[in-house]
Amino acid sequence: MVRRIMWKTLLRIELGAAGNQAPSVLPFLLPGLRYGSSSAIDQHHELARERSKTVTSFYNQSAIDAAAEKPSVRLTPTTMLYSGRSQDGSHLLKSSRYLHHELPVRIAHRIKGFRSLPFIIGCNPTILHVVGAPRSAGKHRKEMAHNWRWIPDFVGIICTRLSPKKIIEKWVDFARRLCEHKYGNAPQVRINGHVAARFPFIPMPLDYILPELLKNAMRATMESHLDTPYNVPDIIITIANNDIDLIIRISDRGAGIPHDHVDKVTDYHFTTAEASNQDPRMNSLFGNMVEMGNSAQSGPMHGFGFGLPTSRAYAEYLGGSLTLQSLQGIGTDVYLRLKHIDGKEESFRI
Ligand SMILES: Nc1ncnc2c1ncn2[C@@H]1O[C@H](COP(=O)(O)OP(=O)(O)OP(=O)(O)O)[C@@H](O)[C@H]1O
Ligand SMILES: [Mg+2]
Repeated sequence: MVRRIMWKTLLRIELGAAGNQAPSVLPFLLPGLRYGSSSAIDQHHELARERSKTVTSFYNQSAIDAAAEKPSVRLTPTTMLYSGRSQDGSHLLKSSRYLHHELPVRIAHRIKGFRSLPFIIGCNPTILHVVGAPRSAGKHRKEMAHNWRWIPDFVGIICTRLSPKKIIEKWVDFARRLCEHKYGNAPQVRINGHVAARFPFIPMPLDYILPELLKNAMRATMESHLDTPYNVPDIIITIANNDIDLIIRISDRGAGIPHDHVDKVTDYHFTTAEASNQDPRMNSLFGNMVEMGNSAQSGPMHGFGFGLPTSRAYAEYLGGSLTLQSLQGIGTDVYLRLKHIDGKEESFRI
């Protein structure tokens, strides 16, 4: 368990750098903050206690300077997959040694990047969490040997037989519940293509990207059918699996992305939440329940302008891509491509 958390930490540190603009801290916030997990709140209290100590150390830790000069040693997921299990448990010691050396270096790289940002950013609790990470990295390592337990179908963060259909269904349920809460109804979702496929894969990026894409598709569907909210077109998801990558296409009939927005939707902070909240039908149709949801411009369903750019950053970091095709007046097709990690083709490094 702890080992999985350590690998997750490593991936998050790296994914935090994947965005090419300021929100490199976002993956640390998500999904905890977005979906209101209690662990995010606990973390916040712990950070508040450490804050004053950490803010000062942020700018003057010579150990961080030294570690930031070292190169990081990146592994392919295939290496992680095949060296992540052994009969005698020796892989635990190897992973532990690797992470013991690697985590401080990776964290130091991030801290160095954060330091070049204005001082006030260094006081942000999320950034301080990263600054405190070298200390907790040592603590985790000691706990690791004691707390390790076998998780079926997992080697570290890699699921050895991930079913794209299953993981899509999980996030469809989630997004439909949010959508029903906000709009009083939600589109049906049909999944086709390679529905029986199973292969080794890292679920974490899908756990971030899928809910974002599904929320967008459902919002567009509902808001383009405000006059017939109980009769909305289905969303169709197609899974395509091949030797090189996994492709997931999400097709909605939510009227598409207007021509003058197409180039902006993957910019951080671009959102049309304000415009849609001004539509009087949003408040009159569904009564109080929806009115509550609409009182804020940003919420779990939409409104931050981070869903698409962050999802694209995740996809590109993992050797994939996220592209959108808008059929203005009809709907949008979103194509998510993620490279396989089974070693048959050249892979990215984490
Ligand atoms: N499937 C879609 N159909 C039509 N417009 C879309 C679609 N997906 C995204 N958009 C447009 O792109 C904008 C940016 O999307 P993005 O997911 O980045 O932010 P958001 O949904 O507004 O907020 P959040 O950060 O909560 O996801 C949306 O506000 C919306 O106008
Ligand atoms: Mg969104």
